Amino acid sequence: MRVVSRAECLINKLCGRGSLSKKELAYLLSRRISAGDERLLFRRADSLRGSHAGDGIIVRGIVEFSNICRNRCVYCGLNSGNVRLRRYCMTTEDILVCARTIYKSGIRSIVLQSGESASIRAEWLAEVIKRIKKLYPAAITISAGERSRSDYALWKKAGADRYLLKIETTCADLYRRLHPGMKLKTRLLCLRALKELGYQTGSGCITGLPGQTAESIAEDLLFFRRFGMGMISIGPFIPHPRTPLSACAPADTVSVLRAIALARLLNPCAHIPVTTALRRSSAREAYKALECGANVVMFSFTPAVFRRLYDLYPGRSKARFDAGRELDGLRAYAARTDRKLDFSRGDFNPLAQKSPVFKTGKFH
Ligand code: 5AD
Repeated sequence: MRVVSRAECLINKLCGRGSLSKKELAYLLSRRISAGDERLLFRRADSLRGSHAGDGIIVRGIVEFSNICRNRCVYCGLNSGNVRLRRYCMTTEDILVCARTIYKSGIRSIVLQSGESASIRAEWLAEVIKRIKKLYPAAITISAGERSRSDYALWKKAGADRYLLKIETTCADLYRRLHPGMKLKTRLLCLRALKELGYQTGSGCITGLPGQTAESIAEDLLFFRRFGMGMISIGPFIPHPRTPLSACAPADTVSVLRAIALARLLNPCAHIPVTTALRRSSAREAYKALECGANVVMFSFTPAVFRRLYDLYPGRSKARFDAGRELDGLRAYAARTDRKLDFSRGDFNPLAQKSPVFKTGKFH
């Protein structure tokens, strides 16, 4: 008679009910599960990705239009304390050139990302969004941090379809230590406002942060589910030399893959990217993510002069990562694995996925 492990029982329970308790999820994130059970977890997540999100690998193009940031997040190379980093904000014309390159590559999903700063004027970004929309009909995702509800509303009206605001961690204590002067509550209110305004809303977390526990990551995953996130971005912590966490150990990439697999099993229809942090820390694990739940890859179209300065973590900004060459690599991977690249808008359909948030209007 075959003995069924606790992990296998939990994986079956998760697939049957669509959810688990925080403690149970934490167990599946812990080192206690065997290599065989981990393979099972990945297989199940991969199969659910196929049945609910499809076989396409959605390709998005990102423009990192400014590295100016007022925050002091202790893990991030863009933190305002990093005074040696030269700051930039691309002009409207520069951004339009990038949007054209993305559109000409066939990609219909454009992400505009920046640090968080009042110097990025809401009216200016609204104008950029409008001009892109008029010239290049594609979905636009904005990722510019915490802003007022009226700024979010202005960008939505200008044509933005999605907003990405990572929660980083849902543990209030850890959040406070990582983000001096910031509050988890504010971020939650921003996410709520974005959802109410009709954005396809995305969030995510970092795994392997100093002081983070498996329970805390499990709580993040449950939060994404309760909220009904359309996009869930999970990446490993990579220490940056010019931050207070420079001497900390990097995350192990396998735990990121487990978190991605669990995110998929909890959110069957969500779009889950292979985060750039994962691609930079291990190319092999990056492709592996596409086999355990992830279904999106984002390529940077930021001009090399600026990309060098978008220095979130080491390896992020290397100019040698050319979007065209990377796209060829992904195309070859897709051909090998019988999948196809999907250049469409890649919308999230909330109605396809049952989520408590749509019934109760509450998420936390
Ligand atoms: N390691 C991993 N991810 C990081 N980010 C910023 N700094 C790091 C780091 N050192 C991620 C955060 C942020 C996104 C833009 O980059 O999750 O939301």
